[in-house]
Amino acid sequence: MLKIRKIHLDTVTSTNDYLKSVSDGDTDTLTVARADFQTKGRGQASNHWESEAGRNLLFSVLIHPLSVPASRQYILSMAGALSICNALSDSVGDITIKWPNDIYWRDKKISGTLIETRLSGSVISDCIFGVGVNVNQQVFYSDAPNPVSLVTITGKETDIDELLDNILQRFVDYLSHIYANDYDAIRDEYQQRLYRGDNNLYLYENHTNRYPSGRFSARIVEVKDDGTLVLQDEDGLLRDYTFKEVSFVI
Ligand code: BTN
Repeated sequence: MLKIRKIHLDTVTSTNDYLKSVSDGDTDTLTVARADFQTKGRGQASNHWESEAGRNLLFSVLIHPLSVPASRQYILSMAGALSICNALSDSVGDITIKWPNDIYWRDKKISGTLIETRLSGSVISDCIFGVGVNVNQQVFYSDAPNPVSLVTITGKETDIDELLDNILQRFVDYLSHIYANDYDAIRDEYQQRLYRGDNNLYLYENHTNRYPSGRFSARIVEVKDDGTLVLQDEDGLLRDYTFKEVSFVI
């Protein structure tokens, strides 16, 4: 069983950056840095991550998953997303995973994850999951398109420490399966929890030159082990996309 080492910081530039500086290589320990406020909180694609001081859950987890081949590292992303998705589902319904690892309530984003890995040959020596969950913040000011928080959904404030512990317990449990080379149930559960994973047609926008440009209707077929999203368009053509090659039109 992994041990959990928790560090609570008042203010930090970014919890991901903080964990990079304290990496200890201890494979039995999951190190967690939680902050009340980040001065340079980072999102995907160099975006800023907005969060009012003390109102949201901002944390990063450092692990050393040496037994996970780099070619199969997406299973870790699935486990992280499921941990957040299931913990939030204890409080509200309609929580799904928007590929690859955003967490959505209905059509709005409640949580995002920034994963940074360091490889040593074909082995993942360090993997940092940086997670922001919108918890008790009422109003969002950045140009993020569709943020939502738990308090705006439920009308009640949530204990941030309890939510963190809920997510961490789930993550440790998923990791125990991954470290035992038991990936199948996680992969299946991830597919079942996907946003727009209900086999209906939805609108997407293609950003690669492999397929016709512009918008198209498609259904999700699967997410492959390497994280590739497979869509089937209205004509039955299978299209595969890596991160940022397609966007969901919402
Ligand atoms: C996204 O854009 O969806 C990813 C957002 C990730 C934000 C979290 S907040 C804690 C951790 N530290 C950071 O600087 N970023 C991540």
